Amino acid sequence: MQKVCWLLAVLVAVGLLGWAQAGTSLVLEKPASLADVSLTVFGDSAYAPAIMRATNSKALVDHSFARISRLDEILPAGAKLWVPDATWAKAFLAVWDPNRVEDLFGGGKLVVGSWWTTGGEAEGLEALFDLYRSRYPDVLIVNATVAGGAGFVFKAVVKPRIIAGDPPDTFQLHAGLEVEGYSPEIYLRPLDDLYTIFGWDKVLPSDLLDMIRYKGHYWGVPVNIHRSNVLWYNKEIFARYDLTPPTSWDEFFAICETLKKAGVIPVIIGNAGGWEVAHLFEDILAGVLSPDEYRGLWTGETPWTHPGVARALEILKRIMEYANVDYPAHTWDTALDYFVVDKGAMHIMGDWAMGWFMAKQIDYKVGWAPVPGTKGVFVALSDTFAFPKRAANPINVLSWLEVCGSKEGQIAFNMRKGSIPARTDITPEEKAQFNPYLQSCMEDWARDAIVPSVMHGAAAPESWVVDFKDAINLFLVTKDVASTQAALMAAAQAALGK
Ligand code: GAL
Repeated sequence: MQKVCWLLAVLVAVGLLGWAQAGTSLVLEKPASLADVSLTVFGDSAYAPAIMRATNSKALVDHSFARISRLDEILPAGAKLWVPDATWAKAFLAVWDPNRVEDLFGGGKLVVGSWWTTGGEAEGLEALFDLYRSRYPDVLIVNATVAGGAGFVFKAVVKPRIIAGDPPDTFQLHAGLEVEGYSPEIYLRPLDDLYTIFGWDKVLPSDLLDMIRYKGHYWGVPVNIHRSNVLWYNKEIFARYDLTPPTSWDEFFAICETLKKAGVIPVIIGNAGGWEVAHLFEDILAGVLSPDEYRGLWTGETPWTHPGVARALEILKRIMEYANVDYPAHTWDTALDYFVVDKGAMHIMGDWAMGWFMAKQIDYKVGWAPVPGTKGVFVALSDTFAFPKRAANPINVLSWLEVCGSKEGQIAFNMRKGSIPARTDITPEEKAQFNPYLQSCMEDWARDAIVPSVMHGAAAPESWVVDFKDAINLFLVTKDVASTQAALMAAAQAALGK
């Protein structure tokens, strides 16, 4: 706010507290138009629509605020307005379509599409919703989740809706090449202007910005960074058999033998979602190959004939011999019940598993280590929210993205989700609020070699991800290394056009 003159009396200035939309409450001392107020506050009359919208939003939940029915209305002395902060006001003007008068009245819905339904996922999402509601209580949030880890079910549901012109207002989208499957130039709104206005291009790591940028534009606002390559182990079982976390596959299989003899399931797996074993395979690849070799698999620089690919398949085949036999019937999270009741010892999964452990309040018995061979390597992915061009409630989406990209939003969300904030401006005091795993993850993210996850959208377009996943699922049946390697090679050739 640049200046406030005799036209207005300032009542309260909120915004730093994070408990209401950032802005200021003003009472007119004499009759004025919104353009007058905008000129007085911002030095520019153009922000009148933003003030109208913000005031009408407030009026829906607090009747002391003016209800404004026309942009050119002369408001009486004594009218109480809510003037949003300059950042939101600018973002409003960037998003608002002047043909959409309905967006000036506040309220409406915010339909949020995601696949976050399990322990940790649901809690993280709810934390974002809580923060959103505290800032925008006039908006009704519709939680349009579709269950199914890694989003394979959700993605199949949301794409036809987007094409049919009936998208959710905003939806979960992995950072990386996954966006290609949404034909973003046709269906999504590029977010470059919002990145500049909210300063996200300054507070997000450059690796991540590169991942989100596709065809020169940003298509989603990240809420987190997840790590794919974590070996979770049951500390009580490990203590009982005097085991230490494995650092190599040889050590890993030695532990498996000990546990098998003792009647404990060495490796807990659920593959009912169809992606979980393929996820395990990407982690094995990331340890068997060097970071550059692994990255090269997705760019064509490392041939899929590489002996490391065959070795990774051999390792996977062997791991499956130590898994719970009912793995096809379990998803990643239901399989973890073996962990809870101390019947299963190790689980290789992304760190959303930590969100699940926290939600079940059993994180005290969980130890973690990098997947064997991946010490110093961080297999990364990030969840973003996208903005469909046909969103029915665009201003509510703008406010949602503001919350997603904010520090408050990222702290509240990630503490429950098991991921770390994508923002780089987390202070040591804020970091200290996270649990020990998440703190160690922040350190690894800053130090390790970062390589992209394939199963979670970062490394390859969706068509390739699906071919990769299918090849690994067939491998579970055939156990044939040579034909699987050939199928992986063919998938790469199809995707890279070679
Ligand atoms: C990933 C997603 C995570 C987590 C996981 C399991 O694809 O990025 O946020 O939810 O799936 O559903």
